[in-house]
Amino acid sequence: MAGRNGRTQLLSGHEKAAASRSFLLCQHLVQLYLPTPDQELLAAMRLINILLLFGSLAAIAACIPAYFSILVWKAPEVLQDAAAPDPTKGAYIFAMAGCAGCHTGKGGKPLAGGREIKSPFGVFVSPNITPDTKTGIGGWSETDFIRAMTIGLSPEGRHYYPAFPYTSYTQMTLADIRDLWAHLKTFPPVASVNRQHKLNFPFSIRPGVGLWKLLFLDEGRYRPNPAKSKAWNRGAYIVSGPAHCGECHTRRNILGGLRNSVQLAGSPGWGDGERKDGAAPNITPHQEGGIGKWSADEVVFALQTGVTPTGDVIGGEMGEVISNSTAKLTDEDRRAIVGFLRSLPPKALE
Ligand code: HEC
Ligand code: HEC
Repeated sequence: MAGRNGRTQLLSGHEKAAASRSFLLCQHLVQLYLPTPDQELLAAMRLINILLLFGSLAAIAACIPAYFSILVWKAPEVLQDAAAPDPTKGAYIFAMAGCAGCHTGKGGKPLAGGREIKSPFGVFVSPNITPDTKTGIGGWSETDFIRAMTIGLSPEGRHYYPAFPYTSYTQMTLADIRDLWAHLKTFPPVASVNRQHKLNFPFSIRPGVGLWKLLFLDEGRYRPNPAKSKAWNRGAYIVSGPAHCGECHTRRNILGGLRNSVQLAGSPGWGDGERKDGAAPNITPHQEGGIGKWSADEVVFALQTGVTPTGDVIGGEMGEVISNSTAKLTDEDRRAIVGFLRSLPPKALE
């Protein structure tokens, strides 16, 4: 079925059809009217959020069938005669997707979880994704994994918080997700019990994430744009899917949904500290705010080495993205990323 962006979707037309019209309407309305969190708004944010939540309940009632259609998601048939997954290719996807950063605690064993991830909604603690059967995901099937990566649903039907960036991973090809799964299975199992997230009310109510997904999860694989080159499509795929650049570089609305009208134009972050949490610069070709003054080679070099044209070293979260991820990609893929970034409309961060 063709999605809103013309992407192929796993949910069959049959499952979504009943709810889709009212669903799209309420999704568009909410996205249009939700403000971005300015500093003054942030103080009142909790209250506003609660009001918004209840206020949108009525609109969302129309979406309940779609909510349940997510729960009855089935494995896509395409898997039945697909090629055998390749763990070596999976290792490359693993780097591209930056799973290690979030799922490895400070000084902890690889993928055993325990990393704290700050957000305006509270602190998330990443889970253990090693193949340990008791405390990790050793008991999962490939289908369980695809479901988690594409619609943010656990094998038991729990909705995952989008701190796990499945909102981007949903664009990944099934071949890439399967190769990645084959690679994950090669990690040594580590017994480490997951810690609870420390979230503020009402975000601590997990089923609420199901409503959030109706509004902000655009489920579906990346569909190449036939009017563009192969390299452009490769770049668009990497940036929007596995490498999830927009999860940090695109500003969010007050409910944490990405504002795709200002895609990759930076995120102001939150909090009152001098260095705001979650802030990320504009990486569109805007001359002043963005990276419009950098040459293509300079951006490629920065993604490879972390060194900017002025000789600064890119630090913080991006330092980790570079060492875990973009430094490990082929030069061809880095160039594809940069080609795509430079084709974006230059936008200033409002
Ligand atoms: C930005 C941080 C971040 C990145 C990057 C990330 N994850 Fe996660 N992941 C999380 C968080 C946080 C959760 C917990 C979500 C929840 O509890 O709802 C999670 C949950 C999961 C789960 C569910 C585990 C369970 O016990 O149910 C799996 C599987 C998973 N991630 C795999 C991956 C893979 C594979 C990648 C790379 C493709 C990845 N994650 C990248 C933060 C991240
Ligand atoms: C985990 C969040 C996160 C992700 C994911 C992420 N970035 Fe960044 N990025 C940042 C932050 C934060 C900075 C600012 C780093 C600093 O201040 O030194 C940054 C800086 C940059 C810069 C330097 C811009 C400048 O003006 O100095 C570029 C280029 C960049 N990112 C590109 C990318 C691309 C391409 C991707 C996807 C492959 C990506 N980023 C993914 C958080 C992220």
